[in-house]
Amino acid sequence: MKTTLARVQAATGLAFFAFAAVHFANTMLAAVSREAYDAYQAHARAIYQNPLVEIALFATLFIHIGAGVLSARARRGTPPAGGLDRWHRYTGRALAIVILGHVAATRGPSLLAGVHPGFLGIAYTIGKWPVISYPYFAALIACGILHAGIGAWKALRSVPVPRVVAAALVTTIAACWLGILGLGGRLYSIDDPGHSRFAVLLEGLLSHSQK
Ligand code: HEM
Repeated sequence: MKTTLARVQAATGLAFFAFAAVHFANTMLAAVSREAYDAYQAHARAIYQNPLVEIALFATLFIHIGAGVLSARARRGTPPAGGLDRWHRYTGRALAIVILGHVAATRGPSLLAGVHPGFLGIAYTIGKWPVISYPYFAALIACGILHAGIGAWKALRSVPVPRVVAAALVTTIAACWLGILGLGGRLYSIDDPGHSRFAVLLEGLLSHSQK
């Protein structure tokens, strides 16, 4: 049972890593320009929003979270993990709590109203709620990179020296945080995100909910 669970978790983790790596690279591109972010996302979206790929992506995610819950149960009463294992577990739990909300907020509008958030949609939420958005996105991406990075390293055990892994993770997080600053319009001037279709949709929903 334990090894099968561990294998299922490693395999689904590695499968989701393929999407996560593409997604992290997308976030980094926001440090370059809005055009680079949106153009890359449009190409990547053609793959991960292909119905077959997207169903496989979410099935993988839910099996991974399910295996994580079962493994945590099976570990009950054993001493807590240390070092990288502890980071891996805590970031995994944090992601499991927020990921459905993130997908609902970003994929929901395109599924239900045909509106993709894109650069200006994220820029709009950062501009409207900066005190919440900056720490939220910074923590989300840091958790994503640490959990995916440590998980891939544990599954592959290909790189012998953990310091190399740590340096790669820190560099990736820093590059993505720069991307968040780009999305916030802090690195170069951006168009007013309030005119984006995502902003108009969100404002419509918000004003509707206040009636
Ligand atoms: C700074 C942090 C992040 C930002 C700004 C961000 C932004 C976005 C955007 C704009 C989309 C919609 C994509 C599209 O319309 O093509 C999206 C979708 C998604 N994101 Fe994120 N994301 C972040 C972090 C993460 C992390 C850490 C994970 C998980 C490890 C994640 C998982 C997903 C998933 C599963 C989707 C749905 C993909 C689909 O369209 O089927 N995101 N995100």
